[in-house]
Amino acid sequence: MHKSTSGVALDVRARRRESSRHEHAPADDSSTPPSTIWKQLLRLTATCEALLAFGQSALAGGFLEGRANLLALHRANAILVWGIAMSMTIASVALWRLARGPLWPAGVSLALVATILLQMVLGYRGNLLIHVPLGVIIISADVLLAVWAWRSAGRP
Ligand code: HEM
Repeated sequence: MHKSTSGVALDVRARRRESSRHEHAPADDSSTPPSTIWKQLLRLTATCEALLAFGQSALAGGFLEGRANLLALHRANAILVWGIAMSMTIASVALWRLARGPLWPAGVSLALVATILLQMVLGYRGNLLIHVPLGVIIISADVLLAVWAWRSAGRP
């Protein structure tokens, strides 16, 4: 038994509709794309970094006011600020290499790692003439990087 011509045409159209549905179906979205993971990690590390670096100025202020114990906290927090700058570098390098993000955040993070080390040396030497303004520069760079990470952090 043969189908009528209009019956065949209907079959063909139905098959085309079916295949175009598959073509436009969203890709398997059960896993999070790598760019999102690195972007979120950069946001997390950059936010912690900005808050802890800002905390350094409050701890130093308290110490200068006469609360001697705050210097030990300032010293301990310095290690945290440095360590988180390292994690920020890892996150931004991953965003650049694995998720085709921009390169400059990795450069800025790496420069921060080096500058924070210098800042610690200056702190131990009591060279406040450079330590205080350098602290302001570090905090400003941290805040700007965190703001950028939340606003864009590269391609979606
Ligand atoms: C942003 C990152 C900063 C880091 C990593 C850092 C690190 C340090 C370190 C390691 C010391 C030596 C602590 C000791 O002698 O036991 C120190 C001392 C000190 N820092 Fe900072 N600091 C930072 C920011 C600041 C800021 C923003 C200020 C002031 C606004 C500041 C003011 C001081 C003061 C007053 C001392 C004591 C110096 C002395 O004993 O003569 N620091 N800092």
